[in-house]
Amino acid sequence: MRVMVIGGGGREHAIVKKLKESERVTELYCLPGNGGIGRDAICVNIGATDLDGILAFAKEKQIDYAVVGPDDPLALGAVDLLEEAGVACFGPRKNAAVIESSKVFAKNLMKRYHIPTARYETFTEMDAALAYLQTASMPIVVKADGLALGKGVLIAQTLPEAEQAVRAMMADKRFGKSGERIVIEEFLEGPEVSVLSFTDGKTVVPMVSSMDHKRAGEGDTGLNTGGMGTVAPNPCFSPAVAERCMQEIFLPTIRAMAEEGRTFRGCLYFGLMLTKDGPKVIEYNCRFGDPETQVVLPLLKTDLLTVMQAVTEGRLADCPVEFSAQAAACVIMASKGYPGSYEKGFPITIPDADWEHVYVAGAKERDGELVTSGGRVLGVTAVANTLPQALHDAYERVERIHFENEYYRRDIGQRALAAEEA
Ligand code: AMP
Ligand code: GLY
Repeated sequence: MRVMVIGGGGREHAIVKKLKESERVTELYCLPGNGGIGRDAICVNIGATDLDGILAFAKEKQIDYAVVGPDDPLALGAVDLLEEAGVACFGPRKNAAVIESSKVFAKNLMKRYHIPTARYETFTEMDAALAYLQTASMPIVVKADGLALGKGVLIAQTLPEAEQAVRAMMADKRFGKSGERIVIEEFLEGPEVSVLSFTDGKTVVPMVSSMDHKRAGEGDTGLNTGGMGTVAPNPCFSPAVAERCMQEIFLPTIRAMAEEGRTFRGCLYFGLMLTKDGPKVIEYNCRFGDPETQVVLPLLKTDLLTVMQAVTEGRLADCPVEFSAQAAACVIMASKGYPGSYEKGFPITIPDADWEHVYVAGAKERDGELVTSGGRVLGVTAVANTLPQALHDAYERVERIHFENEYYRRDIGQRALAAEEA
């Protein structure tokens, strides 16, 4: 089969590497891909949101199957367009991708279908939002409605901070149209768990759970990032918690979407918080998480293309999906300064033997060598029988990889290890 993957980050590299293992994949393209993905697929310089370009390419190469990685093309309707042209796709249609692209939609859905989440109010008028804050207790969470590159969430410890966040979104339009509507919600506490799932809209198959590390600094300090590292499985996600999430969150969510006429097919990502009152939804994503995918897919034992096609064709109930009982770890090597400003263009050296376990996010080819081109540069991973071993192996690999200006957190997985011991 001729397969194309849309996107060009570490997540897409992980998807590409897994698809490449499939004997059924004969040609593999990535649009636009990046300097590292080019080792595993043919990269084509068409942007992930250039829907016309993508469609034209799919027709020209007679693509049989498309996997849409990032949220923006999904929110723009990439899957609708490709499916209407006869190209089978992995990913939700636009009317289902809204579960991520509008936080107001997601919150209202959860309220209507009694899916546990933080208590909240939504606002389109700044004065009403500011008045509401006077009555609210701190800390409190202010969220822009739309997509904001993971930066549209502010946890305010004090009333002035909360007011400032509301003004930044609604008056200063820091997130453009994404901040025209906002959600103000209750601050929740507890361990966070990411659960990616395959769903065809009727059946939901959770993948192995994982734990992200969103803050830039060690000890979970500093600014929020796209994610500085991940481990899988997440020790907080016990079988009992998993069963409760299935009954209270996963199944109710896909049923709710189907009932709303927005059947979700693809990877639905549940961002959960395990509070003392039970698991609650922090956010939904309509796609594979990044860098969760870099630890989840290496543990998948079943052929990825086979599972994806079962999702597309509504046959997931009849498709066994098996994960390894091993553990995986991913350490993000970033450019120093990220998520703020940083220098790029530095050559990267990766020993040949380590390439198999490196997922490239922000690097490009320049005169035959790989150079840094983004904030998050590499996801360096390992799979082993235990989490401590996986972390050890991943960090050993990190030590062997070099570029000027590199920065990584040295404490990825420490919270998971502490939870494992508890
Ligand atoms: P989101 O972009 O919705 O995933 O939010 C980013 C991060 O903010 C989450 O991973 C949480 O760590 C934190 N967060 C979001 N909502 C809440 C909440 N209601 N209570 C506490 N922390 C939250
Ligand atoms: N790692 C979180 C996300 O993909 O949104």
